[in-house]
Amino acid sequence: MDADTDGTGVLVVEPMGNAGPFLAEAAERLGLRLYGATHREVHEGYAPWLTGALAGVCLTDLTDPGRALDDLEAYCRTHRISAVAACWELFTPLAAALAARLGLPGNDPALARAARNKIEMAEAFRAAGVPAPAGAVAADATEAHRVAAEAGLGWPLVVKPAEQGGSWGVSVVSGPEELDEAVAAARRFTRAMPHGLPLDNRVLLQSHVPGAEYSAETVVCEGVAYALPVVAKETTTGRYRVETGHTCPAGLSPELDRAVRHTAARAALAVGVRNGIAHTEMKVPPGSGSPVVIETGARLPGDNICEIVEAATGVSEAVAYLQAVTGHPPDTRVTRERAAAIRFLLPERAGVLEHVRVPEIPGTRAELELCPGDPVPEPADSAGRIGHVVAVADSPERARSLAARAIDGTRLHVK
Ligand SMILES: Nc1ncnc2c1ncn2[C@@H]1O[C@H](COP(=O)(O)OP(=O)(O)OP(=O)(O)O)[C@@H](O)[C@H]1O
Ligand SMILES: [Mg+2]
Repeated sequence: MDADTDGTGVLVVEPMGNAGPFLAEAAERLGLRLYGATHREVHEGYAPWLTGALAGVCLTDLTDPGRALDDLEAYCRTHRISAVAACWELFTPLAAALAARLGLPGNDPALARAARNKIEMAEAFRAAGVPAPAGAVAADATEAHRVAAEAGLGWPLVVKPAEQGGSWGVSVVSGPEELDEAVAAARRFTRAMPHGLPLDNRVLLQSHVPGAEYSAETVVCEGVAYALPVVAKETTTGRYRVETGHTCPAGLSPELDRAVRHTAARAALAVGVRNGIAHTEMKVPPGSGSPVVIETGARLPGDNICEIVEAATGVSEAVAYLQAVTGHPPDTRVTRERAAAIRFLLPERAGVLEHVRVPEIPGTRAELELCPGDPVPEPADSAGRIGHVVAVADSPERARSLAARAIDGTRLHVK
């Protein structure tokens, strides 16, 4: 624990995200007081562990930046809060604006929207020379046909909402006949729930980047980037690229490992991360050795990646993030040489969950997100998960195969 941070108050703008439990645990380790900022109705649905982890909550309207900034500023001053962290991708620009207004360590407010909106992100990457797919923007299907041809994106191409996450509305389109449906799928999000935040519902079309996919976090303190361990990401291969799991370490050659971490750091800096963390996803076209950035977000990773990285390397990304926003050099030392993998339990189709039984395998831990009787959505995005299995072992191959054994041995029935 860092004595300087003892008792410091940190305001987390919507702590309800997947990384919330890791932030809460990290705050306890560092002796920080954690406060939340959210909506009254959203707060009413908080899990008991989250309510218990917070020293206080500022209730405001996060969808109204003017009002939210006034409310949050007043709250921070009253509660002697001296750091701001974001835990919800769509509110990372708000967190940057709040930190700037309070004179606290934070990200560049002028660039912060680029970490939320994939159209602005593409512009920020272009301006900074970060390798990213060729792209085009469309407001509707007619424009999509025209700009895809004009930009020479070729087929397959990827269609995605300008503002969304969890692979919602992302499709890989193999020819013009599939484009209308993909644009409609990407444009169906007009507001992000549960806050009701209005979204930019233009679509981004990108050339399809082949190859293996990786992610890496970058913690940045006073503009200095510290690269965190690389994680291999596995997805389904069809029209919908849904995450099936993640493994750390990624098992890369030292050269490629360095290139992936360096590219992630460049992406983080390009979208104005100055005191914070970024989660960057990249693909490496076969034989190229050159990562291409798919996206970055100025937040901790989702999908329990914090747990995987810490189990494999001893690095707590949530601790590093809180150290960065409280203005302390982040602790990024690797202290463990293990491997960890997470695999998601995905249904084959939508319906109602009848029963699910994950086998108990030593070295694995299973967690179910749905119970029998719950509706199961179509496995088109990360909302379709039934649960996950985490495995820890001596090598990435062994961790991956242990987790796969537990998933493959699961008895699951969806009616
Ligand atoms: N241009 C591309 N080329 C190849 N694959 C892509 C491309 N864009 C997206 N994908 C695939 O689709 C997945 C989801 O896309 P993206 O990360 O842009 O959306 P997202 O909704 O923010 O995703 P998530 O929150 O699930 O990471 C990527 O992880 C990748 O597997
Ligand atoms: Mg993504």
